[in-house]
Amino acid sequence: MNSPADPLAALPLRDDLRGMSPYGAPQLQVRVALNTNENTHPVPQDVVEAIARRVGEAAGALNRYPDRDFTDLREALAGYLGHGLTAENLWAANGSNEILQQLLQAFGGPGRSVLSFAPTYSMYPLLALGTGTKYIAGVRAEDFSLTAESAARQVREHAPDVVFLCSPNNPTGTALGLDVVEAVYAAGEFHDMVVVVDEAYAEFARAGTPSALTLLPGRARLVVTRTMSKAFALAGARLGYFAADPRLADAMRLVRLPYHLSTVTQATALAALEHHASLLATVADVKRQRDRIVSELSRLGLDPAPSDSNFVFFACGSDAHAMWQGLLDEGVLVRDVGIPGHLRVTAGTEEETTAFLDAVSCYLGRS
Ligand SMILES: Cc1ncc(COP(=O)(O)O)c(C=O)c1O
Repeated sequence: MNSPADPLAALPLRDDLRGMSPYGAPQLQVRVALNTNENTHPVPQDVVEAIARRVGEAAGALNRYPDRDFTDLREALAGYLGHGLTAENLWAANGSNEILQQLLQAFGGPGRSVLSFAPTYSMYPLLALGTGTKYIAGVRAEDFSLTAESAARQVREHAPDVVFLCSPNNPTGTALGLDVVEAVYAAGEFHDMVVVVDEAYAEFARAGTPSALTLLPGRARLVVTRTMSKAFALAGARLGYFAADPRLADAMRLVRLPYHLSTVTQATALAALEHHASLLATVADVKRQRDRIVSELSRLGLDPAPSDSNFVFFACGSDAHAMWQGLLDEGVLVRDVGIPGHLRVTAGTEEETTAFLDAVSCYLGRS
């Protein structure tokens, strides 16, 4: 039922959308915004120029629809990922959110289900809802870890059509062992389950963390998704992609909107891939700031989780909202992900990280 205050109450919405809230990380004007896990480093000037050049060249042909199969982009993405992948293994869309939505459109839907392991990326239940897929929130251990044994047992118990494994996991930050991916895939093999490993933050992983890309050979229903929104510092460009068996990539044509990747998006992403070394040069700095946050928060008596991503999830005492507000009062916006006693902060530039750590010290000194 809708509350009387629901402004959408008068609309003939689908029953399952009634009373729901949209995704809504606050977009506040603050001095230091560290709440949506962007790469806060600006796009390097050589990349800005390359994008402007490519888009400028493409502009004259904007009277025509774009290359529907974005062949050049798929080739370039395959080249970037390596692992022997070719254009046929690749698919792309407007952000990895759209990728995940297309996967549910094709393999989820009414009468089908998707399993994930909470707490995890907050868009998964919303994408399930929008595609009419039943969402099953699996569980993790108390310290938010997930073992191969537990994950496989939950797959056998629920027999979902699709599993979303987020690695590194948002909001907790830690990567999954490949044994978890292997066990989940094997547990769903008998009913042709599709396993999606969301590697949005893979480029930030600590040394020695393998990608699920290495597991693709021989697994026709394994999908590894990536994005240019994080390490590539191109959240505004909206480009997500996946690698999988060519038949699975091909199936996306059944559900994508015609010409879903604009000529401008394709040109931007191609320029970014040509200059990926320059774009990814900030990753090392972000990782340094991330590690600095983990060690400084520990020193301040808080309890940060080990992070393979560009953010840190930390236990901050009983009143997370009070701390969130205290940091905001200092001009620093972090994310209250709704997990009692915890907050999540994006690792920004050195200056932003210093501002965050100073605000934490200041808050702890006051409280
Ligand atoms: C785990 C995870 N997957 C996917 C996304 C979606 O990113 P985008 O749609 O910008 O590619 C995000 C964004 O925060 C994320 O945290």
